[in-house]
Amino acid sequence: MSKSVKYAAALAGIVALAGFAIADAGQQYNIGKPVTEAHIASWDIDVNGLTGAGLPPGQGSVAQGTKVWEAKCSSCHGEFGEGAGKFPVIAGGTGTLTAERPDKTVGSYWPYAPTLFDYIKRAMPFPAPQSLSNDEVYAVTAYVLNLNDVVPKDAMVDAKALAAIKMPNRDGFIKAEWDTKNVVCMSKCAPAPVKITSDLVNLHVTPEEKEVGNVGSTVDRGNIEESADTTAAAATTAHGTGPGAKAASGPTFEQVQPIMAQRCTVCHSGKPTQAGFSSAPMGVKFDTPAEIKAQVAQIKALTVTSRQMPLGNMTHMTDKERGLLGTWIAAGAPIK
Ligand code: HEC
Ligand code: HEC
Repeated sequence: MSKSVKYAAALAGIVALAGFAIADAGQQYNIGKPVTEAHIASWDIDVNGLTGAGLPPGQGSVAQGTKVWEAKCSSCHGEFGEGAGKFPVIAGGTGTLTAERPDKTVGSYWPYAPTLFDYIKRAMPFPAPQSLSNDEVYAVTAYVLNLNDVVPKDAMVDAKALAAIKMPNRDGFIKAEWDTKNVVCMSKCAPAPVKITSDLVNLHVTPEEKEVGNVGSTVDRGNIEESADTTAAAATTAHGTGPGAKAASGPTFEQVQPIMAQRCTVCHSGKPTQAGFSSAPMGVKFDTPAEIKAQVAQIKALTVTSRQMPLGNMTHMTDKERGLLGTWIAAGAPIK
């Protein structure tokens, strides 16, 4: 007896025991039931954010959405999307994406409106996902968009309208192509061995019982195409700062000096006060106005452009302060 026939016989026995009529003992076992169009449709609910393809028929207004929201959403997300307790904030946050603590909401972050329909339809309300009708989802989507000032309060939203909406942060995403286009060099890439001039152990950033570090040694690490130095230099050139930049009315040195003192000089000083630092890192000091002035290009590159400094932002420099430094440098970095 072949394996499959044996299984078929066993199965037929089980089915017969259970009292089922066996219509065609040869091929069909009459188990399960054919999948229906309706079954498939209930699973096939994904929506293409960019084109809106997959959005079902239906529509809803902001006014209708207000009712759905108040009955089924506001207990967690707040009456105006401000978020209740630990539940997510749904509205607001515009312009905070580059802040230290970005407020990512539908209005400030989401790139596509059809995705909002998809998400709500699929996952909300949290305790009873997929319990809303399409019209209810359209309506509450309209309400959420209105909370975020994306549609007016008399808006009626359907598939076409959602696909046509340009969300505020639509262009805030970039296509990550750099790691697919890079040409990898795996061996014999460096023209010469690379000399290590600084490491975390010797900077006392990582306290260790035995501070040995690697300074002075060399490694052949392959062709490191772009060192930190050339990156910083390129950034500086690209931003056209330095002595040539034109003077304009901007922040004064009286505003800049306390920021430098508080955020940088605690480490970058002949006598650092930051715990763990016994000398100025890489000899870079900002104790005097002249020292600051002489290094504005570097300050801009590392603080405003790349934000590598302050190191790990240990001194909690704010975006506003970075902006102020940038403006001061762009205006020619006056120290009087
Ligand atoms: C019981 C609490 C609760 C209720 C009620 C609720 N939600 Fe949510 N909602 C959540 C939680 C929790 C998340 C985050 C889920 C996650 O990240 O996996 C969320 C996430 C969301 C998000 C995505 C937020 C973002 O930017 O990531 C939207 C939009 C949303 N809900 C809309 C709604 C709508 C519309 C309703 C009413 C139909 C609703 N929610 C009802 C708890 C709730
Ligand atoms: C917590 C200590 C600390 C603070 C605060 C700090 N730095 Fe640094 N800085 C370092 C260390 C450590 C290095 C060396 C990093 C390395 O080896 O790559 C460094 C290096 C530098 C360099 C030289 C980089 C190079 O490659 O030549 C500059 C310029 C600099 N920092 C500017 C600043 C500025 C401007 C601020 C304030 C906005 C600042 N740093 C705040 C620790 C600090």
